[in-house]
Amino acid sequence: MELKIDKTMPSDAPVGVFDSGVGGLTVAREIMRQIPNEKIIYFGDTARVPYGSKSRETITKYSRQIVRFLQEQKVKAIVVACNTASAYALDEIEKELDIPIMGVVKPGAKAAVEATVNGRIGVIGTEGTIGSHIYSTYINQINSRIIVTGKACPLFTPLVEEGLWQDPVTDEIATRYLSGLVESGIDTLILGCTHYPLIRSTLGRIVGEGVMLVNPAYETARELKKLLEKKGLLNQKGQELGTERYRFYVSDMADKFQTFANSILKYGILSAKTIDIERY
Ligand code: DGL
Repeated sequence: MELKIDKTMPSDAPVGVFDSGVGGLTVAREIMRQIPNEKIIYFGDTARVPYGSKSRETITKYSRQIVRFLQEQKVKAIVVACNTASAYALDEIEKELDIPIMGVVKPGAKAAVEATVNGRIGVIGTEGTIGSHIYSTYINQINSRIIVTGKACPLFTPLVEEGLWQDPVTDEIATRYLSGLVESGIDTLILGCTHYPLIRSTLGRIVGEGVMLVNPAYETARELKKLLEKKGLLNQKGQELGTERYRFYVSDMADKFQTFANSILKYGILSAKTIDIERY
């Protein structure tokens, strides 16, 4: 496979982060907060979102193309900031790469196991993520007695991409999706799609205070820090400010993405560039 790279990767090289669209920005935001010395190259596949309703083959092909693009940018490590791609493509791509790559599912599963008291965990995500049963697999590897109930919420991604974070339509759909999960007695709910933290307040209101919401982004950033430390790749140089620190690329609609990213990150990104991902 041509995904192999030069082994003399400098520790001040950027970390690549990707998602189907804006959702992965919730992970990038957490990396920026927890390891501010790291440079980030973000790719949002805005031309091909959503990933959640596509096949494993398609998502693996898309993920490989994005990984090739990120390698061309000389990233030192990759975070798959998309649950669907983590579920479908990560294991295969990891075998083909010689830079570290990690997803969001394992860290999210670990955080939920630590959070639950009654041993009943709910997971919401795309059809792909829920259908793959990847969360229950990882959770039950840690503790086989935990009962995991999954619910696919395919309409959440377009609602988030359209900016309907606080809207009666989102409330109505969330109530329909979540009522069965609440009745099943869960005390912990994994936001198993990186888009969902953006509607966290709506979700929290609907499931009620008795249910702890787990955003895998937090644990992902912690695990990334540990991984970079272990590989001797943590950036030891001082925080670099300016335009080169965080770079954003998309496959379509850069202006819309840019406005969105600015509202999520509060760092003020200068620009997002459109690239032709089909070339990779
Ligand atoms: N944000 C992605 C995830 O975490 C995918 C949403 C989508 O494109 O369907 O699964």
